[in-house]
Amino acid sequence: MLTLESACRRPERHRVLTGDRPTGPLHLGHYFGTLQNRVRLQDAGIELFLVIADYQVLTDRDLADRPAEHAENLVLDYLAAGIDPERATVFTHSSVPALNQLLLPFLSLVSVAELGRNPTVKDEIAHSRQAAVSGLMFTYPVHQAADILFCKPDLVPVGQDQLPHLEVTRTIARRFNDRYRTDLFPEPQALLSPAPLLAGTDGGKMSKSRGNAIPLGATEDETARLIRAATTDADRQIGYDPERRPGVSGLLRLAALCQDRDPHAVAEEIGSGGAARLKATVTEAVNEHLRPLRARRTALAADRDHLRRVLRAGSERANAVADTTLAEVRAVMGSV
Ligand code: TRP
Repeated sequence: MLTLESACRRPERHRVLTGDRPTGPLHLGHYFGTLQNRVRLQDAGIELFLVIADYQVLTDRDLADRPAEHAENLVLDYLAAGIDPERATVFTHSSVPALNQLLLPFLSLVSVAELGRNPTVKDEIAHSRQAAVSGLMFTYPVHQAADILFCKPDLVPVGQDQLPHLEVTRTIARRFNDRYRTDLFPEPQALLSPAPLLAGTDGGKMSKSRGNAIPLGATEDETARLIRAATTDADRQIGYDPERRPGVSGLLRLAALCQDRDPHAVAEEIGSGGAARLKATVTEAVNEHLRPLRARRTALAADRDHLRRVLRAGSERANAVADTTLAEVRAVMGSV
């Protein structure tokens, strides 16, 4: 299995694609889980594609909520975190017709039974807000194969939950190559993010839908308020023990990540200062760490036109790549 470090050592050998759904602002979980790694890959000189998965938003709801605004806000968070639009290609699904057209030949390569077995789809259906499962939900992993394979990346940084989708992508690449006797598509590998799950302010996994997340764009006061409301326990002696003290330990981890030190060391420093001292320490650590990012974010947020231009330029680049791939696909399929 390839690691981030080994990929960065040979940047010219790699092309990376990954992405997010535009459903709301990114938070610290995204930042430590994936954003930082993307910036590392980019800065090592690896070609990076970031898809804003706007069609995916429609898998489990009737209407996307303010799609353009959410897409622009994702760009804002990306740029604030260090993504450089001169080097990375940031685009939305919906702006790349040739990418979407790959869905048709790809659908012919998978069976209905296979689609029904996908554990990530099953899980998303279980959490869906709709009574009926849409066809898009069911076929979504095939669309994801299209949004990955159109640019022929060899590496796809994802969380554990996306591994079944990536397996579909690999299967489709292999079957396409077999069926049409070509080597057009690589079988991309997952690059699992090394950062363990970041706990939210309630001790569970940090996630927007659980209301326990600290957004990157929160102000320092909002950050303080969110952390003050975090779940801890009554033991004044602060110690790092994720099993028995998930709330306290999650906060310690957060401070430790921000200060690039060991959570035990943070705990020792707080000693018997109790939850109040712990929360003050964590707030300070988060605000301190995010200060430059947030300053960039504020400056960028003042120029929505710039965000739109970044998306337009990214979409143009993605379209050029997708047009080429679609032409190759049509050629090997013998289409006219
Ligand atoms: N499905 C991913 C999610 O739910 C988002 C996504 C869309 C993605 N296309 C991708 C991730 C391609 C990695 C590669 O978060």
